[in-house]
Amino acid sequence: MTRHAAIVGTGSYLPERTLTNADLELLVDTSDEWIVSRTGIRERRLTDEGSATSDLAFRAGERALAGAKVSPEQVDLLVVGTSSPDHLFPSTACLTQEKLGLTCPAYDVNAACSGFMYALMSGVTAIESGRAQTVLVIGADALTRHIDFEDRATCILFGDGAGAVVLTAAEEPGVISIVLGADGRGGDLLIVPAGGSAAPCTEERVRNREQYVRMNGNEVFKFAVRIIPKVTLQALEEGGNTVNELAWLIPHQANKRILDTVEERLGLDDDRVYSNVEKTGNTSAASIPLALDDLYTSGRLQPGDLIALVGFGAGLTWGAATVRWTLASPDEGVQ
Ligand code: ACO
Repeated sequence: MTRHAAIVGTGSYLPERTLTNADLELLVDTSDEWIVSRTGIRERRLTDEGSATSDLAFRAGERALAGAKVSPEQVDLLVVGTSSPDHLFPSTACLTQEKLGLTCPAYDVNAACSGFMYALMSGVTAIESGRAQTVLVIGADALTRHIDFEDRATCILFGDGAGAVVLTAAEEPGVISIVLGADGRGGDLLIVPAGGSAAPCTEERVRNREQYVRMNGNEVFKFAVRIIPKVTLQALEEGGNTVNELAWLIPHQANKRILDTVEERLGLDDDRVYSNVEKTGNTSAASIPLALDDLYTSGRLQPGDLIALVGFGAGLTWGAATVRWTLASPDEGVQ
């Protein structure tokens, strides 16, 4: 019998500190009107002083495990998608593993804003191959720690957060299909130039602010609106489904204008493309599981719904998955 992976729990966490567009108006030459009209973002959250990505990941993971009624000793593998690790090493997954009281193998996956989709592929593959029965997959980022709050082109976009899903082996999918992609030729479109082995932080590089995210916004925008519809259709096709069957498209929350363009290109309407970017900004690897948890806990996902998750990010990287939702709405409480 073919083994499949099913999502049996979701969880998310947003730090408490809020940064509004009005706050940003005091830092850089921008306006609430410009930010809302260009991005749809009104506020985003910032990781508290003294906290790091593993703290966000821990809280989202803890909620997902509780929702799934899975105990720490039942988890066979932890995969954390992040590009803002607590340290170069140990991995954020190891730090999160300890906080959650897990004893399983744990590793990070770095695919920037596609990090959750890549981590999901790891979890699904481990289950389908029979190497794991239960996997915790987390997307977590504290990217605001790497943002230049003097650069108005980037500091308005990003926020911090974490989202998680618990996967277990199932007889029926579950996760129907996953498609990933990468094109390293676009690596310089979205990059943190200094701080890695190519350019360790020196006083001069820090003076030039090379330790912060640099982005070619226009090119990333064009890439996003091209790749999201393409990879979504590929994942649907791989699973033998069509876009008309989709109850929800849950895209990486980078910019509302990107989502509106994608919606139009796929012929979907507003009530089938989920967006919470207004309240979160771009939370990088956290955004897809955060949006999924929002949708589920607000009672808008029903068993049998076909959903598609789709991400894109630095690398360049991208990925999409289709999922047959199997969890009862939390309102109906199977508890
Ligand atoms: N406030 C006011 N004006 C601004 C701001 C700001 N915050 N930022 C830029 N401007 C100005 C520019 O200087 C420019 O002025 P000029 O015409 O005098 O030169 C003007 O606004 C237009 O700038 P554009 O860059 O062309 O603005 P655009 O409409 O393309 O919007 C944006 C910029 C929002 C960044 C858009 O390009 C975008 O969303 N791109 C995608 C970004 C993205 O998704 N990144 C995340 C990828 S995922 C990951 O892996 C991290």
